[in-house]
Amino acid sequence: MYQDLIDNILELTASDRHSNVLEVGCAAGFVARGLAPRVGRYTGVDLARAPLSVARRIAPSNCAFRRADGARLPFPDHSFDAAFCYDVFTNFPTFAAGAHIVAEMLRVVRSAGRVLIGSIPDEDCKQAYERRVAEVAKELDSRYGPVRPRPPSTGFRPLSTRLLARVVRSQPEILCFYFRKQDFLALSDSVGARVQLFDVHRLNPYFGYRFNVVYHKKAT
Ligand SMILES: C[S@@+](CC[C@H](N)C(=O)[O-])C[C@H]1O[C@@H](n2cnc3c(N)ncnc32)[C@H](O)[C@@H]1O
Repeated sequence: MYQDLIDNILELTASDRHSNVLEVGCAAGFVARGLAPRVGRYTGVDLARAPLSVARRIAPSNCAFRRADGARLPFPDHSFDAAFCYDVFTNFPTFAAGAHIVAEMLRVVRSAGRVLIGSIPDEDCKQAYERRVAEVAKELDSRYGPVRPRPPSTGFRPLSTRLLARVVRSQPEILCFYFRKQDFLALSDSVGARVQLFDVHRLNPYFGYRFNVVYHKKAT
């Protein structure tokens, strides 16, 4: 499944071992590990400090990481052959928040370069998608057992009582926002780039419920 994801990113961004590629929202380098050995140079940016420090430890040597907001990328125009943003839009409560990032990614890729926005939950099949999520969870539980909080490892400092109280009160949950394909198509006019829609890679358990978008920057 992982190789299928990496192959799909390479294909949709038209990247090869000579390409200089940017990932926006790289987190702890999950994609970087598989992609970097197959491109010339990989740069990852993320808003969050902690996952970046993990990424720096585990990623191959042709990788660089920076803390930055995808909507204000610290790179000159035309810096990369391609850029991608994978599993990040699910964090954005509005399409507008993500649209700024698409425009900024297009600014930093070269003439005729590609921008991939990957794995977007499709608003038009939200209910079917939620049923699929429950099916996948059941499948995983039956294969690996139900997810339980891990006992604290001896290598970690125990949480202070005050911090623990805050964590428990905050009741973290996974948020997932949905988007309409039409919004991505309409954006192509305002950013001046041709657009194509694709399904997510075939082995993704949410194939048919999530989609990928590729913007092609104009050749100048
Ligand atoms: C679910 S993770 C995806 C990580 C990675 N792309 C992957 O596929 O494994 C989403 C990441 O996007 C980052 N993120 C969210 N908004 C961002 C923004 N405006 N600029 C840069 N990173 C952002 C979050 O900090 C988080 O690490």
